[in-house]
Amino acid sequence: MARQDKYKDTWKALERLYEEGSVRAIGVSNFHVHHLKDLMKDSHVVPAVNQVELHPSLIQQELQDFCGAQNIQLEAWSPLMRGKLNDNTTILGIAQKYGKTPAQIILRWDIQNKIVTIPKSVTPSRIRENAGIFDFVLTPDELKQIDSLNGNKRIGTDPDKLIF
Ligand SMILES: NC(=O)c1ccc[n+]([C@@H]2O[C@H](COP(=O)([O-])OP(=O)(O)OC[C@H]3O[C@@H](n4cnc5c(N)ncnc54)[C@H](OP(=O)(O)O)[C@@H]3O)[C@@H](O)[C@H]2O)c1
Repeated sequence: MARQDKYKDTWKALERLYEEGSVRAIGVSNFHVHHLKDLMKDSHVVPAVNQVELHPSLIQQELQDFCGAQNIQLEAWSPLMRGKLNDNTTILGIAQKYGKTPAQIILRWDIQNKIVTIPKSVTPSRIRENAGIFDFVLTPDELKQIDSLNGNKRIGTDPDKLIF
């Protein structure tokens, strides 16, 4: 079975559950724009959410634009790039200005770009820290500075190299 057939068959089953009222929303994960277009041409429920790897080293602008236009909520996994951006000088500079941590700056950048973000931590103080992002606002220029860190760098596998 081709991989498109697999996700389309799965989507049909999800659409059935949605239409029966068994679930309130259905979505996808690790879909590029071409996967979304392919799914949407053969289905009638638009995914509510697309959860993908997204952080300042992989800003996925085309996907952000497409999901925004289609009303698909983008959700960032590994939003902190598993700590790899903590020493970035641009992010550190902005963090210093607001008296915040690099993690908080990245998570605030997500929120201001209307991206749902799901940082993972097993450390209670970091969980609290990651929630403390609603008392400051990044400027448009700071958002752009963070965007400019994009290098299309992934820590996970490119979805085009996965079978799903
Ligand atoms: N859909 C998918 O294919 C997919 C793939 C991968 C991950 N995910 C989801 O994405 C979620 C998050 O991704 P992730 O765990 O890979 O990466 P992440 O959230 O970017 O990074 C987690 C790492 O960052 C540390 N951390 C968390 N908050 C911090 C802070 N404020 N300061 C410094 N370090 C901090 C954590 O350490 P401690 O825990 O030690 O505090 C942990 O080592 C996961 O829970 C998973 O469910 C989805």
